[in-house]
Amino acid sequence: MTYQNLLCDVTDGVATVTINRPDKLNALDAATIGELEACLGLLAADPGVRVVVLTGAGPKAFVAGADIAELATLDAAGAQQLARRGQALMDRIEHLGKPVIAAVNGFALGGGCELALACSFRWAAETAKLGLPETGLGLIPGYGGTQRLARLVGRGRALEMILRGNMVTAAEAHTMGLVNRVLPAGELGAAVAHVAREIAARSQLTLRCALEAIDGGLATDLAAGMRLEAGLFGVVASSDDGHEGCRAFLEKRPPRFTDR
Ligand code: COA
Repeated sequence: MTYQNLLCDVTDGVATVTINRPDKLNALDAATIGELEACLGLLAADPGVRVVVLTGAGPKAFVAGADIAELATLDAAGAQQLARRGQALMDRIEHLGKPVIAAVNGFALGGGCELALACSFRWAAETAKLGLPETGLGLIPGYGGTQRLARLVGRGRALEMILRGNMVTAAEAHTMGLVNRVLPAGELGAAVAHVAREIAARSQLTLRCALEAIDGGLATDLAAGMRLEAGLFGVVASSDDGHEGCRAFLEKRPPRFTDR
C-alpha cells in the first residue's frame, strides 16, 4: 500500500513507519492520522511484522505535534471528536500486540510527544527536543499526554512539563525516564534497527504476553496485575516456545522459536 504522508518499509520482520511531511515538521493532520490508522491496522494483522519502528522524515523533526492549522477553528464537539480519534490512534499503538519503538530523531512536541509516549519505549537523537507545549496555545494535550506522561515520569514532572509547556533536551528526557537511550543523531537509525531486529528474533507469543502483562497490569491494581501475570506466565511456560527456550538453554544451543 502506498501513502501520501507515510513511508513504510518491512525488512526482516521489522516495519519502519516514517511520518513524511518534513516541510510541516511531520505534523499530524487528519490525512496523516487516517494513514497511520490504516497502516497500523495492516501491520498488526501481518504475521510477518514482528516489531514496528516509528520515526519522522528529515533531520529536524520526529513529529512537531497535531497540525495547528486544523486546531485553530474547532468547536467543542469537533475538538472532542479530534481528541477521541487521536487517543484511539495512540491506544492502537499501545495495544498493537507487538513492540513499537519510537526513534525520536528530532522535535517530538504535542501530538508527536504523545505518539512517542504510546510506543513501548523511546530512543532519541542527542539533538531531539521533547515537550507538550499545548498550554502555550491555550490548549491542553488531547492525545493521551496528560495521562501517559504522568504515568511514565511521575505527577510532578508531568505537571511541570505541561504547565510550563517547555521543551526538554534528549539528555533531560533521559534523566527523567522519558527516553531510554540517547544516541548521536547519525547513529540513531542503525541502533534502533539493530535493537528492533534483536527483539524480532524472540517468540511473538512471548512478546505479546510481556506487553499484555505490563500494560494490562499498569491499568489495574497490583493484586489484579499479579493475577494477570500468573495467568500469562501459565500461557508462555506451557507453550512450545517456552519449552523450546528452556530446552535450548539446557542443551547449550540457540532456541528455535515458532511463535506457538
Ligand atoms: N502544525 C502545523 N504546522 C507546523 C507545526 C504544527 N504543529 N509545527 C511546525 N509546523 C510548520 C510551520 O508552520 C512551518 O510551516 P511554513 O514553512 O509553511 O511556515 C514549518 O512547519 C516549519 O516550522 P518552523 O516553525 O518554521 O520551524 P522552526 O525550526 O523555526 O521551529 C518548532 C520549530 C518545532 C519550534 C516550531 O515549528 C513549533 O513551535 N511548532 C509547533 C509545536 C507545537 O506547538 N506543537 C503542539 C501542537 S498542539
